[in-house]
Amino acid sequence: MIRQISEKDSGAVAEVHGRCFGSGWSERCFRDLLTQDVYIGFADVDNDTVRGFVLIQIVLDEAEMITFCVLPEFRSCGLGRSILTELTVYLAHRRVKKIFLEASEGNLRAIRLYESLGFERISRRSDYYRAEQKSKDALVMLLRLLP
Ligand SMILES: CC(C)(COP(=O)(O)OP(=O)(O)OC[C@H]1O[C@@H](n2cnc3c(N)ncnc32)[C@H](O)[C@@H]1OP(=O)(O)O)[C@@H](O)C(=O)NCCC(=O)NCCS
Repeated sequence: MIRQISEKDSGAVAEVHGRCFGSGWSERCFRDLLTQDVYIGFADVDNDTVRGFVLIQIVLDEAEMITFCVLPEFRSCGLGRSILTELTVYLAHRRVKKIFLEASEGNLRAIRLYESLGFERISRRSDYYRAEQKSKDALVMLLRLLP
């Protein structure tokens, strides 16, 4: 089931984030974000277990993806696609016009997913992921939801 998350889910999403990215953000960090109205998240939850989630920030009619991940054992089963599809429906209802995100240019799995959902590559940020990943450049991608 995909549902919106609240600050009550902070511990669960911090754990998923840590397992997906190695150096995860703390539970407190997620609680601080999720208590603010501008931060919205959706998670795939199965029997109270968060399997993956997305967190975005909305400013006026634009949204930016803050983080997005699915636990390794549940990848390539369509969960990531379902979470983003739910997110885009929600954002279109809120009359959000554009969603921006950044992806490491070596993250082909994520980029393929974003492009299949209609995201376009709009620019590149050099050395964005300094020392964190092999591929250091970030692609900036944009999905136009409304004209
Ligand atoms: C990116 C991520 C969230 C995708 O989640 P997922 O649940 O595996 O994605 P899905 O199963 O919905 O796959 C959707 C698409 O991704 C691509 N994809 C999935 N698995 C893939 C693989 N093993 N190889 C290449 N492409 C793949 C395909 O285009 C797939 O399309 P399809 O549904 O038509 O097959 C997940 O891989 C992840 O958590 N990665 C680590 C964290 C990360 O990189 N986050 C994104 C930061 S920008």
